Amino acid sequence: MVNPTLKTFLEATACVTKEHMDHPLELVEGEVPPELKGTLFRNGNGRFVHQGVTYDHFFDGDGMITRFAFRDGQVRYSNRYVRTREFVEEERRGKMLYRSFGTNLPGGWPANALKMQFKNAANTSVVWHGGQLLALWEGGWPHRIDPDTLETIDRYSYEGVLENDFSWLDKQIMREMPFSAHPKEHPDTGVLYNFGTVAGTKQRLVLYRVEPDGQASIEQAIPMDDLVFTHDFILTDSGKIIFCLPPVSFSIWKAFMGLATPVESIRAIQDAPMKIMIVDGDTIRTFETDFFFIFHYANGYETEEGTIIFDAFAMDDFPGAEANVALMAGDDSATPRAPLRRFSVDPATGSVSHHVLTDYPGELPAIDPALNGKPYQYCWAVGGDPKADHKLLDGIVKYEVQTPATEYVSLTPDLPGEPLFIPHPDRQSEDHGWVAYIKFEVATTSTFLEIRDAGSLEMVAKLRLPHNIPPGFHGCWVKPSL
Ligand SMILES: [Fe+2]
Repeated sequence: MVNPTLKTFLEATACVTKEHMDHPLELVEGEVPPELKGTLFRNGNGRFVHQGVTYDHFFDGDGMITRFAFRDGQVRYSNRYVRTREFVEEERRGKMLYRSFGTNLPGGWPANALKMQFKNAANTSVVWHGGQLLALWEGGWPHRIDPDTLETIDRYSYEGVLENDFSWLDKQIMREMPFSAHPKEHPDTGVLYNFGTVAGTKQRLVLYRVEPDGQASIEQAIPMDDLVFTHDFILTDSGKIIFCLPPVSFSIWKAFMGLATPVESIRAIQDAPMKIMIVDGDTIRTFETDFFFIFHYANGYETEEGTIIFDAFAMDDFPGAEANVALMAGDDSATPRAPLRRFSVDPATGSVSHHVLTDYPGELPAIDPALNGKPYQYCWAVGGDPKADHKLLDGIVKYEVQTPATEYVSLTPDLPGEPLFIPHPDRQSEDHGWVAYIKFEVATTSTFLEIRDAGSLEMVAKLRLPHNIPPGFHGCWVKPSL
């Protein structure tokens, strides 16, 4: 059944065509605090329709970086598509030339068979590290972006570190080793950790380490039985790296033959366990728990007794290709919702337990990055009313994960994006700061940047964008030292 809110949103944001530079945003409510100084970068799909073809998956549209520069109580807005080589070629030729994560080329399997060069959508996140701004996508190399002009500098391999050198055949299957969209910066050392899921003669989970000066290296290449779909991970304060590996994997040969998109090729075995893999240097231990599929973790840490705790939006079902096609047609009824669930792993005994923290479902969680891998109290996310008769997440939720407790602001029927936490420069407590997010407003068919007090969730400022854009996926906050 078509959800009119979703339909309005998809039509209004179908394709962003205009690129702005330093456009002053119109303040329509509240006031931008003068102490809020810095730059909010965000990444997300700039369109759902490309060259006359509607993508079959929410994740497929070309990446568009947005920049919100906060200074002297004003916000200036810029947006620019990432000029991947696929984007440039498709624009030049005026047709869809590349397959995507969830969309094959028109023409069925003959048009897709043996075409393993997928579009690097460059649309999932943006990170500032080692003096570089990188647009990230989990299936390929990052793109370097000029933070001032948002121009694309190049497709970046960290000076060859991301070149697949496992073997000649591996190189033919996947030349560019992916660098996921969820790197984790250790708050004390400044080292950036990340991973890539690499298809080849053997499936591998490759772990990367990037020093604060931007020098990258491969830490480990872990052989895998399957090409498991894993999107995010946890870095603890002591340097342990934790993956949840669901029984959800890609059938690369089906995609290779053009018989399916990568999303359609996914097999989810609902009665099989999810594995929790803990990488501690060269020691790798794996534990099992019930079936879940996780896109995002709020955070994770170790207790003094050595128990590993992590909180995640864990779905008890995998949203398959059909659910995404329906979503793109305005039907959200098959879209899963997940509450925030706490997992506890005792490596000494091997016991794993989990429980729901609160009933409020959410996604796109954000925490104070200074507490990454450490005990923490607060997480903000897009959320939904547990009693709602639809599946869209149309509110902002603040989780207090230790009590636990929830504060919720309904924005129904409007649709917000990731509420990124921005710490107050004179922070007195963990939730002293703001959350900032992009919101599509149904009544006015307009898009806004909204800033709320991270403690109370009260509105601080609302600013109108000069055009409609999808709220996007992930972003980062960069202090004025940029
Ligand atoms: Fe993500």
